[in-house]
Amino acid sequence: MRQKITVIGAGNVGATCAQRAAEKELADVVLVDVVEGLPQGKGLDLSEARPIESHDAAVAGANDYEATAGSDIIIVTAGIARKPGMSRDDLIKTNAGIVDTVVRAAAAASPEAVIIIVSNPLDAMCHVALKASGFPSARVIGMAGVLDSARFRYFIAEALDVSVENTHAFVLGGHGDTMVPLPRFSTVAGIPITELMDPDQIQALCERTANGGAEIVGLLKTGSAFYAPASAAVQMADAILKDKKKILPCAAYLQGQYGYNDLYIGVPVKLGAGGVVDIIEIDLTAEEKAALDHSADAVRGLVKDLDKLGY
Ligand code: NAI
Ligand code: 2OP
Repeated sequence: MRQKITVIGAGNVGATCAQRAAEKELADVVLVDVVEGLPQGKGLDLSEARPIESHDAAVAGANDYEATAGSDIIIVTAGIARKPGMSRDDLIKTNAGIVDTVVRAAAAASPEAVIIIVSNPLDAMCHVALKASGFPSARVIGMAGVLDSARFRYFIAEALDVSVENTHAFVLGGHGDTMVPLPRFSTVAGIPITELMDPDQIQALCERTANGGAEIVGLLKTGSAFYAPASAAVQMADAILKDKKKILPCAAYLQGQYGYNDLYIGVPVKLGAGGVVDIIEIDLTAEEKAALDHSADAVRGLVKDLDKLGY
C-alpha cells in the first residue's frame, strides 16, 4: 500500500504539491479545501492526467477530513496572501485562525503524521500548528529555507553559467526580509562562491534572494509563487517518507540550539522518518550570528502578536 499525503488548501501551492507528489508516485494524495468542488475538480483533473503521465498515485479531493485519515504527511497551504490595505496583523489573525482549525482537524485524523507548514507568515504559523496539533516538535516543520535556498542556487547558477545541479546553498533565519543567506556555505561543485564571485556580486544575489517572494508577486500581481514552493514542500515530504536523512534548511522548533529557546526559525535540519531527526548547529561568524539574531527578533515579534490574539 502506498503512503498517504494530505494537502490542505487546493489553491496554487496546494494543487501543485499534489501534482508533484503524485507524478513522482511518492504517495496517494488527498486534497482538502473549504471551497466545494475545488479539491474534487483538481483531484479528478490530476487523476485524468495519470494515463499520460504514467503513474498510479491516486489524487482525491474532499471538503472534510474523513478521507485524510492515517496520512503520513500533512502539508498545510490553506490561508490567504496579504492584500492591499491589509496589515501584517490582519494576515496573522486570518491565517492563524485557518491554520489552527485545519491542523486540529487533520491532526485528529492522522495522529502519527508529520506536518509541513507552508502558510504564511511561515515561522509564526509553525507555532500555531505546534500548539493546535499537540504533536512533538519533531513532527511540525516549516517550509521556507528549501525555497529560499533554491532561489539563491538558481541565481548563482545563472550568474556563473553553470548547472543548477552543481550548486548548493544555505539560507537560514525567518521567512521574510530578515532571512540570512550564507555565502560561506554556498558552493558550486564544492567551491565556496566566495572564491568565484566578488563581494558586490554576492551581495546582489543575497538581496535578490531575500526579495525573491516579492519579485514574483510584483510580476504575477494577483498571487504569489507556487511552482518552486510546491517543489520545496514535496522535497521535504520525500526526505521524510523515504527516511533519507537529508540535511535541508527548514523552520524547526529550537530549544537551546543557536542560543534560541521555544522559537521556530530556519536552520539546517536532518529530515527523515518521523520528521526532524537532528538539528545541525554550525559555527557562525559574529556577523552571521548578528544577522540570525536580527531575524530571530523579527520572528519573536510575530509570536508576540500571536500571544495577543490568543494563539
Ligand atoms: P491560494 O489562495 O491559491 O490557495 C489557498 C487555498 O486555501 C484556497 O484554495 C482557499 O480556499 C484555501 N483555504 C482557505 N481556508 C481554508 C480552510 N479553512 N480549509 C481548507 N482550505 C482553506 O494561495 P497559495 O498561493 O496556494 O498560497 C497558500 C499559502 O502559502 C499563503 O499563505 C502563502 O502566503 C503561503 N506561501 C508560503 C510559502 C513559503 O515559502 N512558506 C511560499 C508560497 C506561498
Ligand atoms: C514566497 O516566498 C510568498 O512566501 C512566499 O514566495
